[in-house]
Amino acid sequence: MPTRHSIEFENDDYLAKYQIAVVLDVLRATTNIITALKNGCLGVIPVIHVAETKRLASTHSKIIIGGERNAVKLSGFHLGNSPLEYSIENVKDQLVALTTTNGTATIKVVAQKIPQVLIGSMLNATALANHLVLLNKNILFACAGTKGKFSLEDTLGAGYIIKKILLLKGIGQYHQKLNINKLEKNTFIYNDESPRNHNHPVILDDLAVTAYRLALYYGDDIITALYDSLHGQKLAQMGLVNDLLHCAQLNICNLIPSYEKGIIINT
Ligand code: MLT
Repeated sequence: MPTRHSIEFENDDYLAKYQIAVVLDVLRATTNIITALKNGCLGVIPVIHVAETKRLASTHSKIIIGGERNAVKLSGFHLGNSPLEYSIENVKDQLVALTTTNGTATIKVVAQKIPQVLIGSMLNATALANHLVLLNKNILFACAGTKGKFSLEDTLGAGYIIKKILLLKGIGQYHQKLNINKLEKNTFIYNDESPRNHNHPVILDDLAVTAYRLALYYGDDIITALYDSLHGQKLAQMGLVNDLLHCAQLNICNLIPSYEKGIIINT
């Protein structure tokens, strides 16, 4: 289970070894997608370019279009990128085409390389962890980041899901400080290139371990992490504190959204 940031995705043949990707853009694209589906949206079409999004709206009368650049709603679009706009009134029984700076592009790029792409956020984190444990496959956590850079909130989202997976696999005792004299099976997380990793129930890379440790640090106090993050501070300065509060909600739904042939639907 590694985590990666979007800048590394293009031309990355190593992605072929993963059977599932979980894409996270906690602020705000994937939270937004999950909110829309929770509110009865029929499906979300992720789009990279603004012009393509507008073209979709002009060819299909039932599609509403949403998105942002620099976190600001696009001219001529029905909706921006605030999850609060993706209400029952606005999206129930509608198809939404969404274009955002980082999130929708990450979904499209990852889907070119990995057969199954799921959409993650704080809202559905535990449901995703339960689902991933049952599937028992190689997972890539694809953190959208910000224009290719690390972002705290996406890494924390991945870490929170990893923390839940470790607990489900009975590796929760790693929460305690490691006692090097009492190393027991299941107290240790193995790196994916460690020679000692055979038969261990979970194998992580260093960034995934870092994400997990970040999740232990913040615990359920997600809003503090969002305020700590660069993008969270930018949104707060724009007066979008209610977006942060929405994105910080843990486990308010059990949706497992999946990208299937160009559209994200609930599975
Ligand atoms: C993105 O995809 O880059 C984000 O969702 C940006 C935003 O917060 O609007």
